[in-house]
Amino acid sequence: MKIALLGKGKTGGKVLELLQEQNIPHTVFDSQNKPTVENLQGHDVIISFLSGEVFKHYLDLLVATKIPVVTGSTGLEWPLDFDSDLKRKNLKWIYATNFSLGMNFVQQMILTLSKASRIFSQYKFSMSEVHHTKKLDAPSGTALSWKKWSGHEMEIESIREGDVIGIHELTLTTPNEKITLRHEALDRRIFAEGALFAASKINDNKIGPGLHLFQDIVQSQYLTPQG
Ligand SMILES: NC(=O)c1ccc[n+]([C@@H]2O[C@H](COP(=O)([O-])OP(=O)(O)OC[C@H]3O[C@@H](n4cnc5c(N)ncnc54)[C@H](OP(=O)(O)O)[C@@H]3O)[C@@H](O)[C@H]2O)c1
Repeated sequence: MKIALLGKGKTGGKVLELLQEQNIPHTVFDSQNKPTVENLQGHDVIISFLSGEVFKHYLDLLVATKIPVVTGSTGLEWPLDFDSDLKRKNLKWIYATNFSLGMNFVQQMILTLSKASRIFSQYKFSMSEVHHTKKLDAPSGTALSWKKWSGHEMEIESIREGDVIGIHELTLTTPNEKITLRHEALDRRIFAEGALFAASKINDNKIGPGLHLFQDIVQSQYLTPQG
């Protein structure tokens, strides 16, 4: 498997470390060596950790390469018919706002909490997320995913300080109790490992064409009741 790595910044740099450690052939593209349809040819999977805005700029170019894409870029909305577009063109893409493998367990816990109304007559959800000061989007893509999984409206407090990789806390409060679910990223390698895991799923032909959410793939292949 030969990887085209788009972005070698804080997160892409961790993917680069893993590629080097595991002797996986790769090419790095960044602001000095920009990707084109031509120079991406010959790669089996493209992994992107560009900002959402830069990734969006390259979207049509990436489709034109016909190469599978794994993207962790956040802060962008997918075009409305993108999934059917990819299916029509027989292309496989995987995306995640958070490639941490542990996030799959968090998703299951949030889906459990989403049933709050079955038990409580009074309750409210709230969330806070903390990231480094260079993060461009707020609330974080992960916070927006958590909110979606919870199925509830809530206030999200976004704090930007130091070099915090990512802390997310979801709280369910009732008049007499409080449940807090907290995920803290300790090293950006968790995102790199998840993205490489996704790339290997594509390369091993374990998924069909379309735009797939990483968590859906992990849930269906590893965390179903039969799994
Ligand atoms: N899904 C996840 O699991 C996850 C986890 C963490 C972060 N993220 C997201 O990943 C994205 C990147 O975050 P980061 O903190 O790693 O960013 P970063 O440190 O700012 O790195 C950005 C990279 O993009 C490159 N770049 C900028 N403009 C470019 C252009 N026009 N053409 C080609 N390359 C260009 C930069 O090149 P130079 O090196 O030449 O400056 C740099 O390597 C963000 O959207 C962030 O929210 C996702």
